[in-house]
Amino acid sequence: MASITIRNLNGKTKKWLRVRAAQNGRSMEEEARLLFDQLQADENSNIATPAESGPPISNASLQIEPVSMTGQTDEVAERLRGSIAGTGSEILAGKQVLLVITGGIAAYKCLEFIRRLRDRGASIKTVLTKSAAEFITPLSIGALTAERVYCDLFSRDDEHDVGHIRLSREADIIVVAPATANFMAKMAHGLADDLASTIMLATNKPVLLAPAMNPLMWQHPSTRRNRQILANDGLYIIGPGTGEMAESGESGTGRLLEPIEIVKAVEILLDDRPKPLAGMRAIVTSGPTREAIDPVRYLSNHSSGKQGHAIASALAHAGADVTLVSGPVSIPDPEYVSVVHVETAVEMKQAVDAALPADIAIFVAAVADWRPANSADDKIKKAKGEDAPAITLIENPDILKSIGTLNENRPALVIGFAAETRNLIKNGRAKLKRKGADWILANDVSADAGVMGGDLNTIRLISIDGIEEWPTAKKQQVASRLITKIVEFFEKESIEI
Ligand code: C5P
Repeated sequence: MASITIRNLNGKTKKWLRVRAAQNGRSMEEEARLLFDQLQADENSNIATPAESGPPISNASLQIEPVSMTGQTDEVAERLRGSIAGTGSEILAGKQVLLVITGGIAAYKCLEFIRRLRDRGASIKTVLTKSAAEFITPLSIGALTAERVYCDLFSRDDEHDVGHIRLSREADIIVVAPATANFMAKMAHGLADDLASTIMLATNKPVLLAPAMNPLMWQHPSTRRNRQILANDGLYIIGPGTGEMAESGESGTGRLLEPIEIVKAVEILLDDRPKPLAGMRAIVTSGPTREAIDPVRYLSNHSSGKQGHAIASALAHAGADVTLVSGPVSIPDPEYVSVVHVETAVEMKQAVDAALPADIAIFVAAVADWRPANSADDKIKKAKGEDAPAITLIENPDILKSIGTLNENRPALVIGFAAETRNLIKNGRAKLKRKGADWILANDVSADAGVMGGDLNTIRLISIDGIEEWPTAKKQQVASRLITKIVEFFEKESIEI
């Protein structure tokens, strides 16, 4: 029987499938199967197949939905900014973005968008429509982009060398933000009566639209029709978001997404790094757990989550669909990862079970082995002359063991960590067996090793094949090395669809 490996699909199709699968909460493999089923059902019911009705599936548009950030608070947005500066940022270094700003009140958000793109090393050329220039000045845009701002199709300066063709040719991507209903209508019907709309017709580069308009305009059948036409033409559409509108008292769907969300979509579209784990689902646990003694006191440990989060991020960058189950940590959520925040070991286990099935499960969290048998409802008071209260502990579920020893649904690769202060190898080997793991990454967490909370780690990888000694390295480098090992492990496998 023939087999198709998702890894071998062309880049654009793979990207489209990945986003579509993520939107629907399915693995890429499931999504592909469903698409085939749908095609077959359509054929059976005499509905035109893509070959008869227009573009094949791989040409359909990618409608990138907001990456879980719509409506988040400023504080969260700030944290995301921090995390993005540290991780996916290299994707945009040296990239050319052509930003087309059309006339909507949300045009002011473009200033922030430009700053975020420039932080990441992108250069930005900007085209303003006439009505956009009513909302935002070329002067402020020019100051932020450090480039000329283009406005006029018939300007001798802008067009002396057929500038609309050059602007499109030089760009890696064209972003229209905000995209008004009027501009979408013009694009859908191929009108080219100013510099911005002419560029849209004269380009073969990826185009990302971030619509923004009054909710009634967004819902209008004309706009819906135009959106569908643009989607069928292969344009990428992100948003709009839902919430309060600029007009007082108005709310609904029509808000321009936050600049950082648009930056993320640009990063997804321009990310041409290899994705060896595309189509795979991974679960990672990270950080400590907190086990309540009373409403204000708890048992926990010094785990920072740095290693687990670095591994989740590296898996996502290798194309895996990652669920990170994180205990309470003070570092930001990694990008491109679904994060489930938990407090206790019991909650962590529930979240891991809910994230199954998966191909890869990596248990990095420093889970508390015990929890107080009873957590007091009120703060335990110190009473004069009384003995210190005794805390009775009971055992927490062993999450790694529960997954490593599964008979059904066991991930193909189960990896645990062994945080030890002595007898690293001996204890690591024992854990490999006892917990049913494929690999144990043993590390020395004695106080002088500085691993707990620190930035470095020294790993011994223990498997039935033997022991690998890894040199001391930053936790991100440990994560990369682990991903290389994981890719090797799966190299011989192929996903049949
Ligand atoms: O037994 P120990 O806690 O040292 O085992 C370490 C490994 O087991 C780590 O991978 C850790 O994430 C995992 N673990 C777990 N659930 C527990 C205890 C540990 O998943 N309750």
